[in-house]
Amino acid sequence: METKLLIQDAAASQTPMLAVFAVDIAVGKDAEPLPALLTTSDAVTNAAAKVLATGEFKATLGETLLLHAPGGLKAERLLVVGLGKAETLSVDEVRKGAGAAVRAAKPLGVREVAIAFPEDHALSDEHLETLPCTLLSRALVEGAELAESDWDTYRSERKDRSVRALSVITNESEKSTRAEIQGGFDTGLIVAAAQNFTRTLVNEPGNVLTPTELGRRAAAMCAEVGIKCEVHSTAKLDELKMGAFAAVAQGSNEPPALIVMTYEPQLKKGETAAEGAPVLGLVGKGITFDTGGISIKGADGMEKMKYDMAGAGAMIGAMRAIAQLKPKVKVIGVVCSAENMPDGKAFKPGDVVTAMSGKTIEVVNTDAEGRLVLADGLHYAKTLGCTHLIDAATLTGACVVALGTLNVGLFSNDEATWQKFTDAAKISGEKFWRLPCTDDYKEQIKSQIADMRNTGANRWGGAISAAMFLKEFVGDTPWVHLDIAGCAWNDESKPWIANGPSGVAVRSILEWARSYSA
Ligand code: BES
Ligand code: ZN
Ligand code: ZN
Repeated sequence: METKLLIQDAAASQTPMLAVFAVDIAVGKDAEPLPALLTTSDAVTNAAAKVLATGEFKATLGETLLLHAPGGLKAERLLVVGLGKAETLSVDEVRKGAGAAVRAAKPLGVREVAIAFPEDHALSDEHLETLPCTLLSRALVEGAELAESDWDTYRSERKDRSVRALSVITNESEKSTRAEIQGGFDTGLIVAAAQNFTRTLVNEPGNVLTPTELGRRAAAMCAEVGIKCEVHSTAKLDELKMGAFAAVAQGSNEPPALIVMTYEPQLKKGETAAEGAPVLGLVGKGITFDTGGISIKGADGMEKMKYDMAGAGAMIGAMRAIAQLKPKVKVIGVVCSAENMPDGKAFKPGDVVTAMSGKTIEVVNTDAEGRLVLADGLHYAKTLGCTHLIDAATLTGACVVALGTLNVGLFSNDEATWQKFTDAAKISGEKFWRLPCTDDYKEQIKSQIADMRNTGANRWGGAISAAMFLKEFVGDTPWVHLDIAGCAWNDESKPWIANGPSGVAVRSILEWARSYSA
């Protein structure tokens, strides 16, 4: 999408569609909804006054109302977009509202949308302080860009319904505020492009996106943004003695890919990297298709296991944005990619494998493969000098049972790191719910014959058993584990986003990395 920020009165915007946000300012549970527009333009307020007075439009989140030839405005259409209750309005609603505007335009074949930057009297000053304009403009651009994507590239008769141009209109007279809006705008474009990059990867079918192809795409992306990328395969896994990762890969004709992306912050002339500066390790599960292996999955829904590389996708997307936003912290992305297949050469239940760390693992179920590849990925990241680790993985069905599809499961062995991540998530607007991984759960992964087993002793707390397994390989290194199994793919569309790959965690991981910037 071509995007620009315009300084003008919304009423003067010559656009096929002008979108303006509305909130419900009614106070009290039983009060009738009272929509109010978030604009300082009297002409826009007047144009919508009559229809708003009918009470037909309630300003619920994502609700839209379309007016043609609105009186007193230069725009061909006026789209009023609900953001929900004024008292609960946050940056996240603005992200979704901007998305709803773009998605309302698409089926109409409207190619250009102008969105009025939320400015207003309908909110108290106190409330406005919680909504800094940098974050508002960033969220607005993110929401619009994320909404533009539809996952119909494999349809031969697809209609082009793209919105090609987006302008954000503000009447802001203060120069410094304008600069803040522009800054948020620029950041939003980078963040959304990264998240959309991830979504494109996750959408790809398993026959297209093999581990090798994932490596190629990561390398191409890294070349584009100017960071180092190495893609290794079987020989390197053997050299590094990554017995757990290699075991998962051995049943497939597709060779595995160990992808290492390195971002080094640029130092000023004469500046040296601070002693003891953090080095962040971003480790992603990249199973390009998970059949379950010899412990094969049922046919029902197996096609969805193409998205079992969403953790890897998130890390690759986050590295893209990091390379462009340039925080002053070193970040290493490690992706362990393989295809989990049943075969004459496949690993089997009962096999004992030795991980890179030297620990031995009894494989009880070959469908618990994600933790095996991550075990070696996490350990490897430590050997590369990472002082803080984060991993993202579509790791367990149990996490989906526990938290559903709205909250990502979060585990951590370190309070400060968890706090930093939680603060980052406040900016990103993504939802995480912490689950325990205290040592008393270690019992779950005890093995009769090896250092540990790759599944819990029973079905209970399956997401925790998986986290406990990973914890064995991070040791004392501060670490956050994100189980994104329930959130990486949306089965249903929302007014602000198409169904399909979500790109979850990209924004939070990026923000977490930025929070370590020196
Ligand atoms: N990739 C799956 C987890 C998954 C489930 C992702 C649903 C997305 C949606 C993972 O590899 C897996 O199969 N886990 C098993 C572990 C079990 C065998 C201990 C599971 O969750 O059933
Ligand atoms: Zn599996
Ligand atoms: Zn899996």
